[in-house]
Amino acid sequence: MLTRDDAVELLSRYGGDAGWTRHCHAVAEAAARVGDALVQKHAIDCAFLWSGALLHDIGRHVTHDPLGHGVEGYKLLSALGHAREAHVCASHLLFGLDAAEASQVGLPAREFVPRTIEERLVPLVDYLIEYDRPTTLEKRFASLRNRNGGNAFFLDRLERAQACAKRFMMQIEAEIGASVEGIVADQ
Ligand SMILES: [Fe+2]
Repeated sequence: MLTRDDAVELLSRYGGDAGWTRHCHAVAEAAARVGDALVQKHAIDCAFLWSGALLHDIGRHVTHDPLGHGVEGYKLLSALGHAREAHVCASHLLFGLDAAEASQVGLPAREFVPRTIEERLVPLVDYLIEYDRPTTLEKRFASLRNRNGGNAFFLDRLERAQACAKRFMMQIEAEIGASVEGIVADQ
């Protein structure tokens, strides 16, 4: 089980002071705020939520490929014995991959779908932070489409990812009676 400090140390070991690590910290902090808002309704493992959110993009130390970075993070954290956080790296890709998609991107040929509330909060909050700034789902997906115009596999599945993120966000908002985008933006 990774503590908060272990996760910070791991990210800094592989990411140093690279700009992308600021995204990781921003996602972790915003995920923790959304977790706090949900804690009355759900049993949330706050330490796992924070570590999973902080490390979800650790594979960017190898590549910024929109799918490859999750595969690299999965491999790294699996090799280090952090299976839960490794699953977050893989399953945050496109809000989940089926077995065929997983094997196509170089993961073991099984489903990598975020199932627990913590696992689902990571890709949701990730989709609400552009670099290290809060944004909206609409704007973030528009920007992903722009940046990945040549990647047919990724683009094909973005619509499904957006629908999953939107559905999950609306479900949370109905439970807490507040805007998730607002919580992420710290408003
Ligand atoms: Fe990512």
